Amino acid sequence: SRGARLAANVSTPAKKSAASAADIDWDALGFGLTETAFMCRATCDVDGEWTTGQLEPYGDLSLSPAAAVLNYGQGIFEGMKAYRTVDGAVAVFRPDQNAKRFAEGAGRMSMPPVPEDVFVDAVKKTISANRDFIPPEGKGSLYLRPLLIGTGPILGLGPAPSYDFLVYCSPVASYFKGGQLTPIDLVVEETYHRAAPGGTGSTKCVGNYSPVLKVQLKAKKEGFSDVIYLDAVNNKYIEEVSSCNFFAVKGKTIATPALGGSILPGITRKSVIELAKKKGYVVEERNVSVEEVLDADECFCTGTAVVVVPVGSVTHRGEKKVFKGGKVGEVGQSLYDELTGIQAGKLEAPEGWLVNV
Ligand code: COI
Repeated sequence: SRGARLAANVSTPAKKSAASAADIDWDALGFGLTETAFMCRATCDVDGEWTTGQLEPYGDLSLSPAAAVLNYGQGIFEGMKAYRTVDGAVAVFRPDQNAKRFAEGAGRMSMPPVPEDVFVDAVKKTISANRDFIPPEGKGSLYLRPLLIGTGPILGLGPAPSYDFLVYCSPVASYFKGGQLTPIDLVVEETYHRAAPGGTGSTKCVGNYSPVLKVQLKAKKEGFSDVIYLDAVNNKYIEEVSSCNFFAVKGKTIATPALGGSILPGITRKSVIELAKKKGYVVEERNVSVEEVLDADECFCTGTAVVVVPVGSVTHRGEKKVFKGGKVGEVGQSLYDELTGIQAGKLEAPEGWLVNV
């Protein structure tokens, strides 16, 4: 009967056994979700005091339908990575930087900031508990997803009465198809904008990411890897790609859009700027117009998920500009080598960049 069918549909699913790293094919990793054994959780009530993070089995959350994050998008996230280094250690990249950005994001979204020590402790606990899930050196990394969400119920518009800070993780390799350092094909978007001045573009709030899907999916259907967003005032200057920051190279100068509040302040962006300056490049953080990009020698993007990815082409109003014959350029390649060499423990890391777990 219909009643029986409905009853069967709502029955509790059989409890899944904990994920095992033994089942993972390390050579087949992309950027899909692979469930791991543990996640970490801290909570905070109206008093604004955070508990320290406690490990628990990785699994579904139980939330009120009136949770602020579900109704009003009161939530932020981070992306960070842990690696196996060549000396057999496990290290996480610049966790203090993610902690700071997370605290700033919390402030923008009217949530109680997670103290840096609680943040870093939870990240380290998550890495340690899921050690078996960290890919072998050279095969990828353990991607960590800290989340801060308004879990308490609220009907009228206002901040949630309580919050959860969660850290979960997944082993990952290349973000884009084709593997690391495969050039991506981008298209300039002139109708939709990612963020506006005074908005939340510089925050990793959950609501910044689903509006890009409409444009991204259309671009993918047309054969592009992703979309370049322009500024919402002039529709002229590069902002960023859906998931990464943008750089254009001309001679010994590397230009990247300045952080004006609508661009995500990437930690890979910041790290690559520092490495490029050390290599003798002049790095300019300023307005970068589409025309300048089309005239560049080489372009690349940076992000935690994408690392350093070369731009093979940029299409603007139907005109396709190909860089470096569609191959990786030497600046992007050398910055990729330097950054991933540091992350693998092969090259000396600047102070505080690699934190052993
Ligand atoms: C990251 O690079 O860590 C991000 O959060 C971007 C996301 C769209 C995958």
